[in-house]
Amino acid sequence: TKGGYEHYMYKEINEQPGALRRTTQGRLNTHTGGVELDEFPPGMFSDVEQVHLIAMGTSHHAGMYAASLLNARGIPAYAFMSGEYSVVNPPVTENTLVVAVSQSGETADTLDAVRRARASGARTLAMTNVVGSSITRECDDEMLLRAGPEIGVAATKTFSSQVTALALLSERIAEDIKGTRSPDARTLMEALARLPGDVQEILDTSMAREIAIEYQDSDAYFFIGRGPAHPVALEGALKFKEISYEHAEGFAASELKHGPLALVTPVTPVFAIFTGHEDEATLSNMKEVQARGAPVIAVTNERSSEVVEFADHVLTIPETHPEVAGILANVQLQLVAYHAAKLLERPIDKPRNLAKCVTVE
Ligand code: F6R
Repeated sequence: TKGGYEHYMYKEINEQPGALRRTTQGRLNTHTGGVELDEFPPGMFSDVEQVHLIAMGTSHHAGMYAASLLNARGIPAYAFMSGEYSVVNPPVTENTLVVAVSQSGETADTLDAVRRARASGARTLAMTNVVGSSITRECDDEMLLRAGPEIGVAATKTFSSQVTALALLSERIAEDIKGTRSPDARTLMEALARLPGDVQEILDTSMAREIAIEYQDSDAYFFIGRGPAHPVALEGALKFKEISYEHAEGFAASELKHGPLALVTPVTPVFAIFTGHEDEATLSNMKEVQARGAPVIAVTNERSSEVVEFADHVLTIPETHPEVAGILANVQLQLVAYHAAKLLERPIDKPRNLAKCVTVE
């Protein structure tokens, strides 16, 4: 049941602290900075040479996020839409680890991509939220999200759990390949352990509804970010468009000048996401859109004083490890999308033309 909530989506947004607690339960050690995954004993990934993350939609955004975490650890990693995987046909060897990220574990494109990867000799790992789903049966290994059932068509808590689980997995893979932990592994594990509380703080204090009200008559909504904040921008826009039916687009902040800036006007609010990845550059992108009259809503922690000073509005996230900040920023954007769609009286849990699970290609 909806447990007193008007929509499953809002219930699931609010369930994130519990979901994240379960995702990390027994899987990290804040004293040693180690990742402890029963499914993957140390050394299991030692001969991995590259990682392909294959997924669609929201899960693809989690895959992009993970690719940037792996690249930051010196591991070649690429995120593909599973629907493009067979067309792009990237080279795969037996030392390629293919991670299929799928909430449902039933997405046809992802299932198809997994089969192809396996046939080419790759090692396959399923990251899903559903025990016994088709994708888990096709893969060599699996890692469960434990986020609990997600009923709303728009994925919310499962994105947060995916990124969290992928952060643990990335650290685990890197430790096996490099033979050492990330220098700041302990800080990262502490941040992941604090994540449920940090998300709760956002749920308790978010100004997302006020932002949704203020900008309800806009022409379009843009989202920009760098590094791991780029997939968060894409995800913010995806959530916004799918449940509000308003035009929303996410960009890499660096891409703005190369075209999208032509769309920016005083009636296109821009959500700028700051996660500690070249924030000065994103700040200057923020000023560029402001110079075209666009209001900017910065999603940032309060420490970024210059961002706070120049932004028209701030959606605050608690201070945390930069690799975790995107998860928090995304929670604010989930809330903005939800409130915007609610003001428009959209059927939030069942947006037109969409299905929770896309089992045809
Ligand atoms: C967006 C959404 C979809 C799914 C996509 C993949 O809110 O829910 O974009 O993320 O269809 O689904 P899974 O993760 O089940 O493979």
